[in-house]
Amino acid sequence: MTESWATFGADLHLELTAGRGLRAGLAEALREAARSGRLAPGTRLPSSRSLAADLGIARNTVAEAYAELVAEGWLTARQGSGTRVAQRARPRRAAQPAPLRRPARPGYAYSLLPGTPDLGGFPRAAWLSAARRALAAAPNEAFGYGSDPRGRVELREALAGYLARARGVYADPERIVLCAGFVHGLMLLARVLRARRVREVAVEGYGLDVHRDLLAGAGLRTRAMGVDGAGAVTTGLPAEAGAVLLTPAHQFPTGAALTPARRTAVVDWARTTGGLVLEDDYDGEFRYDRQQIGALQGLDPDRVVYLGTASKSLAPGLRMGWMVVPAPALDEVLAMKGRVDWTSSALDQLTLAEFIRSGAYDRHVRSMRMRYRRRRDELVAAVSGRVGVSGIAAGLHAVLDLPPGTEREALRSAAWQGLAVQPLSFFRHPDAAVAARDALVVGYGTPPNSAWSATLAALVASLP
Ligand SMILES: Cc1ncc(COP(=O)(O)O)c(C=O)c1O
Repeated sequence: MTESWATFGADLHLELTAGRGLRAGLAEALREAARSGRLAPGTRLPSSRSLAADLGIARNTVAEAYAELVAEGWLTARQGSGTRVAQRARPRRAAQPAPLRRPARPGYAYSLLPGTPDLGGFPRAAWLSAARRALAAAPNEAFGYGSDPRGRVELREALAGYLARARGVYADPERIVLCAGFVHGLMLLARVLRARRVREVAVEGYGLDVHRDLLAGAGLRTRAMGVDGAGAVTTGLPAEAGAVLLTPAHQFPTGAALTPARRTAVVDWARTTGGLVLEDDYDGEFRYDRQQIGALQGLDPDRVVYLGTASKSLAPGLRMGWMVVPAPALDEVLAMKGRVDWTSSALDQLTLAEFIRSGAYDRHVRSMRMRYRRRRDELVAAVSGRVGVSGIAAGLHAVLDLPPGTEREALRSAAWQGLAVQPLSFFRHPDAAVAARDALVVGYGTPPNSAWSATLAALVASLP
């Protein structure tokens, strides 16, 4: 028999098995929630104090259950960022043969978590026909180890044309380095910075924890810049920071575009200190208003590393990204990547090159832009008069500002609706001097078309 205990300290529903010790029962309930995916990786758990208060049990009992799961790898605990569900929680191999389990229950019926495009929109037919053409034309040497660590020249040339035309990037195929998504590019750059004896990187006060963790894992401290309606506060950057990581076209997740004055300020900082600006242009293809926001890299290609990705425009599963590297840093980046191209499939590179050259990439982006724009407009219309919406000029997500003090209630209601959604505070750098803001980050690009209306209805029903 199971007893369902719903607690709302931080939006957590647990099913404790009756008849077990409290600590063991709680640990098993948490394990099951992480295993089934109902508690998404990265989810921050309530403090042991507030969960204990919600459950009416001793704080030590909760703390011990948390510690057990940290030791098993289901949870992570870090000073300042609390206890979270581990990024890659997987069932551990049991010492005894495990009893047969029912298939995992899907955790949430709907998702508005930001980070992925509508995967149902992947252009399967056009990709397949580009792959066919690319394969038919591929020289035999394409099946060997890629002898140029920058990646296939066909793709570098296609990207150089596209990035110059569509994003205002000063792109020379010789300085394009292909990588397995933005994260891989950032990994290489972090190692370059460490080899330069850099110790600190300035990052936006709101951003992705995985990117901050990656920098920390490479031995770099992250210093939080403020973020406001004009993007990251790039004035007054310290000389000690060896690099600045920015999302200038569409700040992630607040959605602001970096103003011209702040663009100039960060480039001036790089010129004065010799530091690098790392420009994350993750969703630059999706701009809905007339005012185009070009890449920051155009201001100073010798100081700015431009990083682009196919994760939003096509699919994250492709693991394809590209960097346009300043000439003075090219050898350092290539030394980190390796003597040959170990990381990306030549066939995928040739396919993407053909996809871009044939015009299929532009067609796909245009059609997805229309899809996302329609969703964005529907979202704005559905919540108007209830909550404020911002960050909507571009990208696949928006920020909904809730009345102060109602964020928890909204998250709780969303969970009841079966809707996965994240609060803005989830993305806050632990040291950021940014004003607390009750808000949700709504990834309206995420649901498949077939689920969009129901997902939007679940969101509206969750709002205070
Ligand atoms: C801010 C930000 N940068 C970069 C990326 C892309 O990362 P990758 O290319 O490694 O998939 C994402 C995707 O969600 C993102 O949100």
